[in-house]
Amino acid sequence: MLPIRDCVQQTPGYVPGEQPQTTDYIKLNTNENPYAPPDEIFNNLEEELKKVRLYPDPVSIKLRKAAGEVFGFSSEQILAGNGSDDILNIALRTFVNPGEMVAFLDPTYSLYETIAKVHGATIKTIPTNENFELESHLVCPEAKLIFVASPNPPLGKHLNRQYLKETCEKATGVVLIDEAYVDFSDENHWEFIKEYNNVIVSRTMSKSYSLAGMRVGFGISSVEIIEQMNKVRDSYNLDRIAQTLGANCFQFQDYFKDIWQQVRTTRNRLTNSLRNLDFLVFDSDANFVLASPQWIEASALYTKLKERKVLVRYFKHPRISNYVRITVGTDAEIDRLLEVVEQLKNES
Ligand SMILES: Cc1ncc(COP(=O)(O)O)c(C=O)c1O
Repeated sequence: MLPIRDCVQQTPGYVPGEQPQTTDYIKLNTNENPYAPPDEIFNNLEEELKKVRLYPDPVSIKLRKAAGEVFGFSSEQILAGNGSDDILNIALRTFVNPGEMVAFLDPTYSLYETIAKVHGATIKTIPTNENFELESHLVCPEAKLIFVASPNPPLGKHLNRQYLKETCEKATGVVLIDEAYVDFSDENHWEFIKEYNNVIVSRTMSKSYSLAGMRVGFGISSVEIIEQMNKVRDSYNLDRIAQTLGANCFQFQDYFKDIWQQVRTTRNRLTNSLRNLDFLVFDSDANFVLASPQWIEASALYTKLKERKVLVRYFKHPRISNYVRITVGTDAEIDRLLEVVEQLKNES
């Protein structure tokens, strides 16, 4: 018998959204940015490629400095991660002993559960109400770490700010606020880092900066917290191409701000159009919407859309089994989605 840890054996593992190997799909299933980054970010790539023989900068300093300028924090307050998933794992390994408690909402980003289980942590889930929102602050005195995403998937709305504040105030452990989708909204939680000494904010370049394929994320917190987390990460956790492209993207703030606005405009059109097609749709602060068709099972809609080469996300989770999650694509992609949905509705 192999010495596989019980907690690993008993975990099904995280199931990411499909990445089809053909290009004939309209891909609205994994919340990628539909717009490419500017071509100029590739200008100095050749130089980096010639250096692949050498290890990358172990501390990703240029990237962290570039992030610091945009975020308004010193590079000592920023940890770079191989995607923000890396930051979540580093936080877990920094603050939680196996057997100790990790808390998060239900439903939320399902990776929290997977990594907590694999780590051997005890899990406390806090149910959201019937609208997938908080009823009060997250009471969990035993938790060493609380993962809380705002905007929170799969709904995509920001959590109540006052309840989040109270959560940070009352928590005896660390609160990690996952801001993966924050650039598509009007608020962020930077002030929480300044106000509370137990808060980490995580950010990703996968969504708003069109770099999902490069795996670049950040943890931003106090110097004390970042110092401890820095010991836990892999020594070369970002390759040189990811560091270079990440730092380059931060030089094009105006370009990305325009994209974020475009995504928000398309999101509003998608929301209204789906409502006109008899879907229940929640308002979203992210680059996706959660929608429940009132005339077909959501799982059947997912399958029929896929047959017609439109990929959306369907989750088997009982709370959302009657919903699909749709990433905001380009206007042309959303037009095609709506056209197919309308055909299906007429056939139903
Ligand atoms: C809430 C949330 N956090 C983090 C991530 C992952 O981000 P990254 O690509 O930086 O690992 C996702 C991706 O879907 C997400 O939904």
